[in-house]
Amino acid sequence: MAAHAGSEKPRPIDERRAGFARYKQDVKERGKPFYPYAMFHDTVMSLVVVSVIVALACIWKWTSWAPHHDGTHQGLLGPEYTARADPGTDNFVPRPDWYFYFLFYLLRIFKWPESVFLGTVGVPTIALLLLIGVPFYDLRRERRLLRRPLAAVGAVLVVLSMAVLTWKGATASEALASEVIADVPHWISQEKLPPQAQPGAKLFAVAGCTACHTYLGTGSSNLGAPDLTAIGTRNLGIQFQINHLKCPSCVNPGSPMPKFASLGDKRLKQLATFLEASKGKQ
Ligand code: HEC
Repeated sequence: MAAHAGSEKPRPIDERRAGFARYKQDVKERGKPFYPYAMFHDTVMSLVVVSVIVALACIWKWTSWAPHHDGTHQGLLGPEYTARADPGTDNFVPRPDWYFYFLFYLLRIFKWPESVFLGTVGVPTIALLLLIGVPFYDLRRERRLLRRPLAAVGAVLVVLSMAVLTWKGATASEALASEVIADVPHWISQEKLPPQAQPGAKLFAVAGCTACHTYLGTGSSNLGAPDLTAIGTRNLGIQFQINHLKCPSCVNPGSPMPKFASLGDKRLKQLATFLEASKGKQ
């Protein structure tokens, strides 16, 4: 082996040791101590960042004195306060910010409940660990892309798949509520729902009830929630339905069903009317 030593490439470990020695030498000759140099640098920069935030907050606060036509106060940097959030809204579709679209779409690929763990924790965590680990497993000094086919292809694939997922997430057809509401005409005809029960049917489709309850085959059954196709045949009564919706666990102790009191009396009445009119397939 020794005979070949001269013509052999230097071992990677020796190269790294030499590099480290050069670095140490450099630090000795030209380096500056962290304190006070780097510390001063960081302190000044942090001060600048905080001052900009404080300045923006002041501009936001003190320019918003002109009432907007809808009663909100409009300022240079947007409204000071907008209308109060309505927790009972049924036309708001929650969507993530654009930079989360790829994760959002991952959740759609993995279906509840079997593989959702993969989409929420599995894939992102593995990807993050791989990223954090790069300095530990990628030890070669080679930096030219063409000499690193594996890394180059890997990087391109990651960027491509994130781009595709972001695109899919951005253009994904509107969430479940719209799919469920497409079934409402079917419910009306199958259950022969009278006109006064129909607003409640639409509400039932968009209020998230079908996340736990099934109704004529729509929705998924979760947390042991009963099928509501023929809930009306139990003749529980409008008042019972309203009370139960307002506070399920007050009526049925231990119920994991969330409270829907925030929907407001009018909508609760509509839901109750729909439930009581649901006598099963006629
Ligand atoms: C997070 C899951 C979940 C959601 C969302 C949900 N429910 Fe329930 N629901 C349950 C469970 C569990 C039960 C059984 C326990 C109980 O009766 O409270 C139940 C029971 C019911 C019952 C039967 C009550 C009884 O005494 O037999 C009705 C009616 C009902 N839900 C209507 C609705 C309506 C309407 C919505 C939407 C506004 C809704 N639920 C949303 C989980 C849910």
